Amino acid sequence: MQLNGARIVLTGASGGLGSVLADRLAAAGAALLLTGRDPAALARINLPASCEYQLLQADLGTTAGIAATVAATQNFRANILINNAGIGGFGLLAEQDWSDVERILATNLAAPLRLTQALLPWLTQQPAAAVVNVGSTFGSIPFAGFAAYSAAKAGLHGFSQALRRELADSTVRIIHIAPRAIDTPINSAAARALNKALGSATDTPETVAEHIVATLRDNTPESHIGFPEKLFAWLNGFAPSLVDRGLRGKLAQIKQHAAKA
Ligand SMILES: NC(=O)c1ccc[n+]([C@@H]2O[C@H](COP(=O)([O-])OP(=O)(O)OC[C@H]3O[C@@H](n4cnc5c(N)ncnc54)[C@H](OP(=O)(O)O)[C@@H]3O)[C@@H](O)[C@H]2O)c1
Repeated sequence: MQLNGARIVLTGASGGLGSVLADRLAAAGAALLLTGRDPAALARINLPASCEYQLLQADLGTTAGIAATVAATQNFRANILINNAGIGGFGLLAEQDWSDVERILATNLAAPLRLTQALLPWLTQQPAAAVVNVGSTFGSIPFAGFAAYSAAKAGLHGFSQALRRELADSTVRIIHIAPRAIDTPINSAAARALNKALGSATDTPETVAEHIVATLRDNTPESHIGFPEKLFAWLNGFAPSLVDRGLRGKLAQIKQHAAKA
């Protein structure tokens, strides 16, 4: 995709990854419609004066928030949607309230699906368009302690593949990117402690934002960030019982940290 002159709606722009991604997309010459829930966090976004951008406060977990984002996207004449907004969900399923599980599924799966569906009539009219879904390694390597989050991100991955196949005869490209852990506020103290204890690699938001920009520019339909994670994602698809066995050995540690989530 041509990024210089592209018009992009970026959800979760006020977050740890979104704010850096906004900066990198602006540097690539894109105009940006930046969305988030917290008006104060949105107001802290500070892009160069040379970048055309607008801020939109909208809760994507609500019908009104979806409608406001759709209207603003059309007014902005965006041709690229980046579904980046998300929430974490570390904890053992048996100990999570159903309302938390619902929120994890609603934010990480239903909201991007709903926003994409609502924008398809608009995007399919554009000469060149794209939807980028920011998934997670846990969508391909579902992880103990992250059952609802893994389910949502696996769902987002499946959605991306199905929609790509459904839109193969259109001008809309569907891109799915699966980052591993990133150093951002989505990770609770307990999740950070678990990553440290397991020796899981953590990327900076800058590294991931640059990867997303390159993936979008090159039109790469699927990408995983991180080498061992890419290998384990393949292994999980091919021989999940091997991954079951590997994670069984880490379960005591995961439970110990989940107790503090
Ligand atoms: N950090 C990681 O370890 C990691 C790893 C793999 C994938 N990811 C994915 O990367 C994406 C970005 O996450 P991040 O690390 O940047 O997290 P973050 O710093 O917590 O930012 C999350 C963003 O999503 C927005 N958001 C959350 N709920 C929303 C809702 N209901 N409506 C609208 N916006 C909402 C937040 O807005 P407000 O702050 O205004 O609420 C914020 O801008 C997520 O999809 C996440 O699942 C993250």
